[in-house]
Amino acid sequence: MTGSNKFRLGVLGSGKGSNFAAIADACAAGQVPAEVALVLSDVADAGILQQARDRKLPAEFLAPGKFRTKLDEEAERVCIARLQAAEVDLVVLAGFMRILKGDFLRAFPQRVVNIHPSLLPAFPGLEAWRQALDYGVKVTGCTVHFVDQGIDSGAIIAQETVPVLDGDTAESLHGRIQLAERRLYPAAMAALARGQVLVRGRQTVRVA
Ligand code: GAR
Repeated sequence: MTGSNKFRLGVLGSGKGSNFAAIADACAAGQVPAEVALVLSDVADAGILQQARDRKLPAEFLAPGKFRTKLDEEAERVCIARLQAAEVDLVVLAGFMRILKGDFLRAFPQRVVNIHPSLLPAFPGLEAWRQALDYGVKVTGCTVHFVDQGIDSGAIIAQETVPVLDGDTAESLHGRIQLAERRLYPAAMAALARGQVLVRGRQTVRVA
């Protein structure tokens, strides 16, 4: 038992942790009625772990095992056990670069969300901002969605558009998308924590 009745977030990330920092700071400021219960990273020196430690939040490295694109069986078992022990209400993927399937999703049914740096269903997969630039679209953005068995294919919760500007590089475009992510993810998290997001198949509906 945690003794806390706040909505509890378990955050998984592999990178610098700017999305995590935005969510953690919005929780601390009372803009999101939730608390970060645990941060796990498959990368021992990932910025997200330092961001968590700087905020005195529990953070652990999770040895991913022998595969490059997913957790191995033992790592997945440990990951599920850590999140369950932390009594998380929602698993938040924040730049977590491994695919989670089967057993993990069954352990947290409809309770895993992700942010993706494009307007899904356009440009799923890696480096979505670069895919958008190479394709030549004039508008891209970011998407918060539930995680299902596919790649970036679960029901969409929220999206924000970002224009592609003449002269954009992959880096400049990704930077602007990340600014949008830092607005969108905490706002979506607040709606989820308040129980305002209902799922009906592929559709999500906001209730007051
Ligand atoms: C974010 O831009 C996020 O959208 C992307 O990784 C970055 C992590 O940055 N995620 C994916 O591409 C997932 N397919 P952060 O560590 O600073 O939050």
